[in-house]
Amino acid sequence: RAVPKYVTPLPVPSTMPTSRTSGGVDEYVVAVRQFRQQVLPAGLPATTVWGFGSPAHPRSFTYPGPTIAATVGRPVRVTWCNQLVDERGCYLPHLLPVDPTLHWANPTGGVEGRDHRPHFTSTPDPYRGPVPTVMHVHGGHNRQESDGHPQAWYLPAARDLPAGCADGGSAYGEFRDLAAERTGVRCAPGTAGMEYANDQRPTTLWYHDHTLGMTRVNLYAGLAGFYRLSGGPDDLPPGVLPGSLPGEAGCDLPLLIQDRTFRPDGSLWYPDSRADFDDYPGPYLPGTDVSPIWNPEFFGAAMVVNGATWPVLRVQRRRYRFRLLNGCNARFLMLSVTDHPTRRPARPALPLWQVGSDGGFLPEPVAAPRILLANGQRADLVVDFTDVPAGTELYLVNEGPDEPFCGGAPGTDFPPADPRTTGQVLKFVVGDRTGVDRSVPPGQLSLPTCAPLPAARGVRRLSLNEQESSAGPVRALLGVVAASGRPVPLSWDAPVTETPALGVTEEWELRNCTEDAHPIHVHQVQFQVLGRGHDGHTPPGPAEAGLHDTVVAYPGQLTRIKVRFDLPGRFVWHCHLLEHEDNEMMRPIEVLPSGA
Ligand code: C2O
Ligand code: CU
Repeated sequence: RAVPKYVTPLPVPSTMPTSRTSGGVDEYVVAVRQFRQQVLPAGLPATTVWGFGSPAHPRSFTYPGPTIAATVGRPVRVTWCNQLVDERGCYLPHLLPVDPTLHWANPTGGVEGRDHRPHFTSTPDPYRGPVPTVMHVHGGHNRQESDGHPQAWYLPAARDLPAGCADGGSAYGEFRDLAAERTGVRCAPGTAGMEYANDQRPTTLWYHDHTLGMTRVNLYAGLAGFYRLSGGPDDLPPGVLPGSLPGEAGCDLPLLIQDRTFRPDGSLWYPDSRADFDDYPGPYLPGTDVSPIWNPEFFGAAMVVNGATWPVLRVQRRRYRFRLLNGCNARFLMLSVTDHPTRRPARPALPLWQVGSDGGFLPEPVAAPRILLANGQRADLVVDFTDVPAGTELYLVNEGPDEPFCGGAPGTDFPPADPRTTGQVLKFVVGDRTGVDRSVPPGQLSLPTCAPLPAARGVRRLSLNEQESSAGPVRALLGVVAASGRPVPLSWDAPVTETPALGVTEEWELRNCTEDAHPIHVHQVQFQVLGRGHDGHTPPGPAEAGLHDTVVAYPGQLTRIKVRFDLPGRFVWHCHLLEHEDNEMMRPIEVLPSGA
């Protein structure tokens, strides 16, 4: 049954209420809960989702979570609470199938270590126990104990936790409760206290779950929200960008774009067996390395923006700022504004003026007909509806493929998304302007400058790999490149190889040995893209001239980035295709104290 499009007004996430503001710090208590929300249009069934809110404001719970509005230079403290329990306080099982054969945050112990899969001699059932969570602020410059390490997960404080069930990632022995060791304050069961310094350029960050081996399903169930960082010397004064004056809030809108598949009863559907993967629909072969439930990439049938399928936004004839976030599990988005929902003219109806990327403002605004947005990336856009006649209907459309992205332009090496479904995202209905638009036309903006990183001291050669067997894809892996030039794939728990020294700028050369593009995300830092191509020397275009935390590594190419870590300890880097990340396309980073 087709879902009617453009009947639900675009939801705008509310602002997360603070629990206390003291001594220059904003404090929040933020809980994860399960609830029902009208994700499909009214009249169709509601959907059971996970989302965030403040326990002191029971009505604040939404998917996506309310936006944390932070200010540069002013720390934020969040007590994250896992409240995935029912009315009786008993734990809720996962909404979606958890593959217990991956290397994952297994609270009931089970088989650890890299060679765990062959231990399953028949198709295992999905895990039904209490759900671990841990939150990460994506793009944030935060200390290791507040970074949301995938092994720093914790369970709800449920009254019926199974005996012998670990209540944290310390079960792996490797990850200690670093925050407790530093502050001497242990968190209450079911919670984790984190502190965000906000000592970076203003930009749009986001928070999401990062639990080892189950990020794809925790995020798919709804665990994501915006973290908006503004102010400080690197922001523009109020009035310059749309939406920055009092009373103009509706002209600065975040757009979290995701793809989801719904069952007729409104519930979220996610593959529960490898038989859902078309290329290898065969049965699970016990004793092999192939996982029985995990699928290598997920592509949903419907587009969801800010928690509603195909919403509609009434805009006035003026300029708007849109902060786009690709929150899809595996789908790359190629976005443009057209005047027809299904026709794809070469020249879109309106240019997208990009003013910022992951790490803040670009050196100068870039007018693009369409933008590629990879998983986890953000684009800060100005769209000018001033000269559009009132009554016009425009569409935000997607020409990325309904399958893995290989890096070509539309119409070259992959079919674009179905124009009738996932090729559409959002409709704009243009109306007359009521107030004055004092914002600066995007072509005349002069943006805050950003000092380049110092020259790199050494090159770290790294590889992106896929492991296949005759029974299908096994897993995706990061790794190093040996001195001989041979890529060496490494699993998540192989000894740490990325050990940059504190404060030293390095060049990372990513060699993609696979046939797909991968969005590579590095924690703690905002890096510069140096070059790409067969030799890695094709300079990035103007839209990539700013700072990034996630970069697209194209198949068969070298992607070179310049990166500098200035916080010591254990972090991670990984592919942001969530299915890859969950099946070991992730590696630890250990930033060594200088001199070590
Ligand atoms: Cu958005 Cu390590 O994640
Ligand atoms: Cu990947």
